[in-house]
Amino acid sequence: MKYVIAPSILSADFTQLGKEIKLTEENGAAYLHFDVMDGMFVPNISFGIPVMKSIKKATGQIMDAHLMVQDPIRYVEAFKDAGADLITVHLEACPDVRKTLVKIKELGLMAGLSICPDTPVEAVREYLEIVDMILVMSVYPGAGGQKFMPEALGRIREIRRMIEESGRDIDIQVDGGIKLDNVREVLEAGANIFVAGSAVFGGDIAENTRRYMEIFREYE
Ligand code: DX5
Ligand code: ZN
Repeated sequence: MKYVIAPSILSADFTQLGKEIKLTEENGAAYLHFDVMDGMFVPNISFGIPVMKSIKKATGQIMDAHLMVQDPIRYVEAFKDAGADLITVHLEACPDVRKTLVKIKELGLMAGLSICPDTPVEAVREYLEIVDMILVMSVYPGAGGQKFMPEALGRIREIRRMIEESGRDIDIQVDGGIKLDNVREVLEAGANIFVAGSAVFGGDIAENTRRYMEIFREYE
């Protein structure tokens, strides 16, 4: 099982973005997480395609686009062209979940499906035959710096069981309130990709990233 830290640039200093991203890449972060918010699916508005386009040139990390966007099928091709390697859409935001996921796969990208804390985990089962990753939100989407919701641990365990039953190799990503002092229990519940915004970009970015990688090495 590969364990990955996916720094969320939502919490970065945008006046130093290229430098800060490089620090995460040089210290082992294989993914870079883009929290795209449209002000409709979530109240906040963050950033979009032009930002991804310019960052793509500055890093070799896997571009992990988390679309907190209403009816995201409208944007999957544009995010592919901007450099996304993985596109995650919200089950709650798709008029046609299957059609959206199939389109992402047809574009040659990895496809992720995310569920909000109030969505029953059973809702993802029928899509396990298509997706490469399930994103379990451990906060209500819309902002960085929130507190981890411990009820996410049981949901991660349930989804890991469903994935094992499916026989497919599917990652579980967790996003929201992931810190150095809770990442072990989230990993032990069955997650393997960890989004962290404030815990990486707050303080010493290189040291924060290195400490996640050290924790993962305890399990490899
Ligand atoms: C919520 C965002 C945040 C962000 C992570 O919509 O998706 O969860 O990525 O922020 P932190 O790591 O600061 O909770
Ligand atoms: Zn996210």
